[in-house]
Amino acid sequence: MLKHKTYNRIARLYDILDLPFEHGRYKPLRRVLFDGVNGALLDAGVGTGRNFPFYPNGSKVVGIDLSSAMLARARQRRDKLGTPVDLREMNVMEMDFADDSFDAVVSTFLFCVLDAEHQLPALKELNRVCRPGGTIHILEYALSENPLRRSIMKLWAPWVRFAYGAEFNRNTEQYLEAAGLDLVEKKFLYKDIIKLLTVRPKTS
Ligand SMILES: C[S@@+](CC[C@H](N)C(=O)[O-])C[C@H]1O[C@@H](n2cnc3c(N)ncnc32)[C@H](O)[C@@H]1O
Repeated sequence: MLKHKTYNRIARLYDILDLPFEHGRYKPLRRVLFDGVNGALLDAGVGTGRNFPFYPNGSKVVGIDLSSAMLARARQRRDKLGTPVDLREMNVMEMDFADDSFDAVVSTFLFCVLDAEHQLPALKELNRVCRPGGTIHILEYALSENPLRRSIMKLWAPWVRFAYGAEFNRNTEQYLEAAGLDLVEKKFLYKDIIKLLTVRPKTS
């Protein structure tokens, strides 16, 4: 199922609901995502534009999202911060960009929202639009192996599913090979629950 209705519904509240996590957890991680990234950059599932303050100076950024309401919030943030970003309504599985359009792709908390059957088509599209040798950074949730943390996450799961259409256990890396992508690095940036996947289009 596509999640635009979920995000059109929650867009007004998204930044407020996420505020404690944004400040307590996500902000320092977003900075790491853009280390060493430059040139033409795609922010896939841009949401309300939480990544804007971290875009590298001089890069040419396009942000896409399926939800018009999330994009409307992103436009407000763009105007307030003066971020030079081109915002477009698009499905990550069918993007309107030529092959190899971007030097780098970043996606934060998009794949936990995409259903299992949408993981592979979305990864294939990221591969298609990222140039050979380019970098794709995917920041995602994972279900903790720690028993206490895992139980707490399981208690949260119904709310996260209802409000965000998201799951903690998408395990996106299992689709990389089929999508023609190499896993360069997987590292946890916050406990064992937020991971950064660095991937690259395979060179044949
Ligand atoms: C959890 S939010 C993350 C937003 C932002 N990246 C952030 O870090 O705050 C997920 C975003 O992905 C968008 N999204 C969901 N399915 C999508 C799809 N198929 N194509 C593009 N964007 C999608 C949603 O509308 C939402 O804005």
